[in-house]
Amino acid sequence: MHTIIGNDLRYSAALLGQGAVVAIPTETVYGLAANALNHEAVLKIFEAKNRPHFNPLIVHCKNWEHACQYAQSVPEIAHLLAKHFCPGPLTFLLPKKNTIPDLVTSGSDLVALRIPHHPLTLSLLDLLEFPLAAPSANQFGYISPTTAGHVYESLNGKIPYIMDGGPCSIGLESTIIGFQDDQIIVHRVGGIEIEAIEKISGAKTIRVQELSNPSRPTTAGQLKSHYAPHTDLIIGEIPPLFEQYKNLKLGLISFSDAYPELNFEQKYVLSPKRDLHEAAQNLFSSLRNIDGGDLDLILAEQFPNEGLGAAINDRLHRAQSLYKK
Ligand code: TXA
Ligand code: MG
Repeated sequence: MHTIIGNDLRYSAALLGQGAVVAIPTETVYGLAANALNHEAVLKIFEAKNRPHFNPLIVHCKNWEHACQYAQSVPEIAHLLAKHFCPGPLTFLLPKKNTIPDLVTSGSDLVALRIPHHPLTLSLLDLLEFPLAAPSANQFGYISPTTAGHVYESLNGKIPYIMDGGPCSIGLESTIIGFQDDQIIVHRVGGIEIEAIEKISGAKTIRVQELSNPSRPTTAGQLKSHYAPHTDLIIGEIPPLFEQYKNLKLGLISFSDAYPELNFEQKYVLSPKRDLHEAAQNLFSSLRNIDGGDLDLILAEQFPNEGLGAAINDRLHRAQSLYKK
């Protein structure tokens, strides 16, 4: 199959209407989209990505009102959060209606709903009579794509069309939340800061890992190894790690400090001015670049564990768990 990159909305809509998959830009990462109400179309997403069927997909809708059509019930607190954060990088887990095929939710009674904040994709959704199921547009387990070029690298020849909407403005996947007994459960940290969710809702959040009796499927957002480069990666204090591994070809991922005294083969400083938004935007493309750099080992700094720093740390930790000494 020949893969075309462009920004033809009508062509994309026609392909999706025929049950094909199309890669779409969002503010978080690029998604691999298909008609969420069509089982056969959704199957093609799993095939192209090599994604296990136990891993459910987020359903992207044109606005919150449409999203609510696919939920059996919506708690007040979800409406409140949607008012502040939609469209945007926040995904809501809600009890699903039967119109959503079981394949989309991997058999779970919950469906993940989100309104992406990207002008091209919102215009595309406006042309369609169905919502779009879309995981990140990468091979399963690898780093999520934040440009059309990243999607092309992973899926060239496997999908007909990639809509190019430029580099993603957030650069990290959406935050995923669910609701249980008046509590907000965080299933994945991401593009909306937990602090902002707590401030707007006036409620404390709980990480899904802290629940004693979680009613949930295992989700890839929770797999220990995910978002991983092929090159080994370790997180920690940079000077001692450099000392320990200095006989190897080393790369560096750091927040603002370029460690000028340390002689790395390659350095990626994600935000010299210490801006976590800028760092998040640069994270995945830097990981891809450094992964292509023919290095033995990548050393990554721990980020401040607040705001988007928590999500950056989460992705870096999962990038490292393949590391074997
Ligand atoms: O920002 C994002 O969320 C991007 C863009 C494309 O929207 N999408 C994304 O999709 O990151 P994906 O498939 O790579 O990650 C979605 C996560 C997965 O870990 C999946 O298991 C979880 O959401 N998820 C989806 N539906 C779920 C459900 N019904 N119950 C629990 N987890 C679910
Ligand atoms: Mg993904």
